[in-house]
Amino acid sequence: MTHAISLTDFGGPEVLRPADVVVPGPGRGQIRVALRLAGVGPTDLALRSGRLKAFGAAKGTVLGFEGAGTVESVGSGVDDVAPGDDVAVFLPGLGGYAELVIAEFWVRKPATVSWEDAAALPASGEAAVRVLDLVSVGDGDTLLVLGAAGSVGTVVTQLAVARGATVIAAVRPADFAAVQSLGAVPVSYSADLVADVRSRAGRVDAVVDAATRSDLQAAIDLAGGPERVVTLSNANAAALGVRLSGPEPGGVVHALSEAMSRLADRGLVLRSHTVIPLSAAAEAHTRLEAGERSKFLLAP
Ligand SMILES: NC(=O)c1ccc[n+]([C@@H]2O[C@H](COP(=O)([O-])OP(=O)(O)OC[C@H]3O[C@@H](n4cnc5c(N)ncnc54)[C@H](OP(=O)(O)O)[C@@H]3O)[C@@H](O)[C@H]2O)c1
Repeated sequence: MTHAISLTDFGGPEVLRPADVVVPGPGRGQIRVALRLAGVGPTDLALRSGRLKAFGAAKGTVLGFEGAGTVESVGSGVDDVAPGDDVAVFLPGLGGYAELVIAEFWVRKPATVSWEDAAALPASGEAAVRVLDLVSVGDGDTLLVLGAAGSVGTVVTQLAVARGATVIAAVRPADFAAVQSLGAVPVSYSADLVADVRSRAGRVDAVVDAATRSDLQAAIDLAGGPERVVTLSNANAAALGVRLSGPEPGGVVHALSEAMSRLADRGLVLRSHTVIPLSAAAEAHTRLEAGERSKFLLAP
């Protein structure tokens, strides 16, 4: 058994309650990890409320896509880590709001990377590498990033700049200086996005939508079509011919490795974070829904 926070129902943050749940031994290709910190992300809020029906979330589910901790045991076929090794884990099957997790995807945590950064990286780092690969961003491209100041957008922006792209970052004016320091050209998402981006960049080759709310039609207009537009959460994507991207098992380890090695090289700045106890998971959801702008990490 492990201490966890589970969903007693769909609804407000109060449905997140402490529970003791069974965590089996690791199966083939899996590891069992004692978490130091677990990340909270906006998808968790959508799953908890019932607004998003995905990832098998149901009553009794333990939410949480990511974390970092120490390997406790390994299943058969695992030979790249051993008990005692420190890792960051990506959990597309959920389970992160707990002391112990079973993981199928991990990357070693270098000693130079803090526990906070290691726990905050997996979901945003995996998504960022994935979407940049999907729209093939490279040297000389102009990329528009919607939500460039968020957890995913911050990583997308820096990786795209490192690939030689010019990045136009759609953010609120209060975040202009932050994205400029990452090498991007800021534009306000509340202004006339199409006119503003055209006046700054002339043209856009591709768009990554990493925003919690986005205008995909503007993105398509700016990119000259939906082919090189990708979104992580816009439910209108299919109707507009835009790809809605989710984790693909074949690419996860590559994406985690690329993101972690950039972090270890001190080539990545992550969004600022707030650490609170695992038992206060409901408080993290409440504060995020009240508009607090931070990455929350839960400490078991
Ligand atoms: N499909 C996947 O695999 C996957 C993986 C990870 C995340 N996601 C989803 O991707 C989205 C971003 O995740 P995250 O962790 O980066 O969230 P986050 O840290 O909360 O960042 C979201 C960002 O969106 C910005 N935003 C809100 N409205 C906007 C608008 N109209 N135009 C431009 N930006 C706007 C926010 O800016 P303000 O702070 O100014 O409001 C914030 O910077 C979430 O919807 C999440 O559920 C999907």
